[in-house]
Order: sequence, then structure tokens, then C-alpha cells
Amino acid sequence: MVVYSSIELTCTDGIAILTFNRPKALNALNTSLLEELSHALNALKADESIRVLILTGAGDKAFIAGADISEINTLSPLGAKQFAQAGQEVISKLQELAIPVIAAVNGYALGGGCEMALACDFIYASEKAVFGLPEINLGVIPGFGGTQRLPRLIGANRAKEMIFTGKHLTAAEAREIGLVNKIFSPEELVVAATETAKLIATKGKASLCAAKQTINQGLNTDLQTGLAIERDAFALMLASPDAKEGTGAFLEKRKAVFTGGLND
Ligand code: CAA
Repeated sequence: MVVYSSIELTCTDGIAILTFNRPKALNALNTSLLEELSHALNALKADESIRVLILTGAGDKAFIAGADISEINTLSPLGAKQFAQAGQEVISKLQELAIPVIAAVNGYALGGGCEMALACDFIYASEKAVFGLPEINLGVIPGFGGTQRLPRLIGANRAKEMIFTGKHLTAAEAREIGLVNKIFSPEELVVAATETAKLIATKGKASLCAAKQTINQGLNTDLQTGLAIERDAFALMLASPDAKEGTGAFLEKRKAVFTGGLND
């Protein structure tokens, strides 16, 4: 496994845990971290044995406190566009990962950190988590997808309130508006995310990936097109070895054991 300087990647029994690891800068996203993340995502994509990815932050204060302000402070307009593009590309790569991704938000998830969590399939938060898009306080706007993904997730009116005020939300407030699925104590957070990941990992990888892709594609289209995407994916899945195992196991009154990978 490659050794990174600003992230850590561990893989156990098909579950990968990627930890943002610049605790002195509250895990802020600089160019070097984004490059390492992109590299790690490519490695995860190529590894058929990985079934679920969990993202979290090192230290007890932050998931990610945003893009690195000392870096963006020096950028020209062209440099800013390139920086935003680099961040958007790696966060889109995360969102497009075929496997389920859980954000385990252990502290500040501000700016680019909140935007990173938004690209995950769902968010578990510690009681100490804080969410926000405070870019307006810096005289800028979110640049890693926040103006696009947040309204799609929580609705335009709530997203506008968060982006216009730059206010921080507690974990409970974030759960109330549908940003966070569940809240845990700091000690339980990654344990709980891993338990959920283990449950997900018992399901067929091909059908998990098909479900994720169908939901994500459907969110970007009209209902009729989304239903057509679902019909096609359903038919494809029904022809898979995992569907034979799953339906057969039900009829034989036994527990299904899914072995199918993406290429079966
Ligand atoms: N970039 C660079 N360094 C950061 C940082 C960031 N986003 N956030 C925190 N740090 C650094 C601080 O500069 C400080 O470093 P030093 O010890 O060397 O001074 C260290 O991390 C600890 O931070 P604080 O002393 O500020 O800790 P605190 O507990 O008092 O406050 C905080 C915590 C509320 C998160 C505060 O650090 C803060 O507001 N950070 C900035 C949050 C922010 O504005 N994020 C958006 C960034 S822009 C962006 O993300 C654009 C985009 O969409 C791409």
C-alpha cells in the first residue's frame, strides 16, 4: 500500500477507511492533499475486493475545515479556477466511485470539507460535528460543488440560507434538515460507520453499485427517464449470478451468500 503524507488509507475485510490527515491545519484541503486523494481513489477503484469506503478526519477537532485558506489567498483568478476545477474533479471522482461511501464526520466539516461530505452517499456525524459553507465570510463562494450539491440534497431555500449566512450548524441541526443520517458519540462514530459498512458489504457488490448508479443518475434527470434507467438496471441485475443466489436462497429458505463482483 502507498504511503501518503496528508491522508491515510487502510483496508480490512473489504472495508476501506480513508482519513484526512493534516490535523495541524484541521485537515484543510491543499493541492497536495487533493492529488493524494485522487491517487487513492484510483487505487480503490481498481481494487475489486473493496466493497465500502469510509471517510473521516484525523485528530479530535476536524473532518476537514475547508480548502486551505493560505493557499487560496495567493491565487490569481486563473489559478482559482484551476484550484476549483481540481477540487471539483476529485470530489466528483469520489461521488462517482461505484462502491458505497460513508462520511464519518468527526468535527468541523466546513467549506470544502462540507462539500466533500456532500459527495458521499450518506453522512454519519459525531456529536461534535459542525457543518457549514462559510466561504461568504471570506468574500468568496463555495468552489468545490457546494452551490450545486447542497440544494439538490436539502432544497434550494435551506442551501441559500446556509450559503448566504455562512452560519455553522450543529450535528443535530444538520440531521434536522436531512444533511446527516445519524449522530453518535465521538468514540462510537467510526465504529458505527464500520458496522453499517460491514452490513452493506454482505450484499452483492454488483447490485449495490447498480443501486447507487441508478439513484445518482436518476437524481440528475426527469422521473420517466429515471424509471427507464431503473428498469434497465433491474433487468440487468436479475440476470446476474447474485440474483440467482438471492432469489434461490429465499425460495430454499436459507441465507444468501453473494459472491458476484462487478465483472461477473
Ligand atoms: N485553511 C488553512 N488553515 C486552516 C483552515 C483552513 N481552512 N482552518 C483552520 N486552519 C488552521 C488555522 O490557521 C490554525 O493554524 P495555526 O495553528 O497555524 O494558526 C489551525 O488550523 C487551528 O485553527 P484555529 O486556531 O482557527 O482553530 P479554532 O478552534 O479557533 O477554529 C475553525 C476552528 C472554526 C474551524 C476555524 O479554524 C475556521 O474558521 N477555519 C476556516 C473555515 C473556513 O472558512 N473554511 C472554508 C475555506 S474556503 C473553501 O473551502 C472554499 C471552497 O469551497 C473550495
